[in-house]
Amino acid sequence: MLKASLPVIFFVNSCLLSNAYAEIDQSSAKALADDYAIVISTATGIVGELQQDINSSTIKPEQIAIPTIFKNFKKKYKAKTGKNYNASAPNILGTMRGHVLMSLEGIINEYKNEILDGGQDAFVPAYFRALMVEQVNSNMDGIMQSHVTNREADLINTDSAVEIVTENSPIANEFIKLVNSGTTKVIGKVINNHYMSYNPFTLKTSCVACHTRNGINHQKPGGFGGALIIDIPLQ
Ligand code: HEC
Repeated sequence: MLKASLPVIFFVNSCLLSNAYAEIDQSSAKALADDYAIVISTATGIVGELQQDINSSTIKPEQIAIPTIFKNFKKKYKAKTGKNYNASAPNILGTMRGHVLMSLEGIINEYKNEILDGGQDAFVPAYFRALMVEQVNSNMDGIMQSHVTNREADLINTDSAVEIVTENSPIANEFIKLVNSGTTKVIGKVINNHYMSYNPFTLKTSCVACHTRNGINHQKPGGFGGALIIDIPLQ
């Protein structure tokens, strides 16, 4: 059902893109950033739920069938927000949500074999999230840029350094300052006519255990775990 309706959403959205971009103001930028942060953590959680079965190579094809993935994703979103996931909302939120569903489907299908073969850390949520953020950035076509990043000493993927991911942003210095300071407060504000959204993570025991397997061994549960940063140019 979703397969059939997605091209329609996509078509409508591409017609709206230029208008939506022109109309984006502080309150719609804030709504977009806040919803996107929830959407990304929800989507990452979908892959998170499959970790045990991926790691032990017991995952079954029906667990990653797209209708099941979408159903679980929408259920989780509703549990977090109390609202239905409306990907055909006639505004920038609908545009973003449509792109997220498309990339969720695209990535799961692309990595199906790796996921089904499984093995320890064969397909981790962080890797999935990095792919998703990259695709949504490119599909949002200048409306919004977002990155999951960290300060240098904590980086697993050095391409995700805050200095690198923000290099084309006029508010790069603000993000660099916040990430390097490891501030754990959520921040949303306007700087240089850009809406800046900073959404820090807190490390759990499970994060630290896996990051240690990936070569970062000084992190502690409860500590700063990087951040999702979102940059939305205003009109
Ligand atoms: C199963 C392993 C695993 C778990 C669990 C995990 N991570 Fe990671 N994390 C990774 C890997 C691998 C990367 C690099 C992904 C890539 O290739 O871009 C990463 C990347 C990141 C990044 C991006 C910056 C960087 O270092 O590349 C942040 C921020 C991050 N993780 C935070 C967390 C937090 C916070 C948690 C817990 C809530 C967590 N991670 C749980 C494996 C894990």
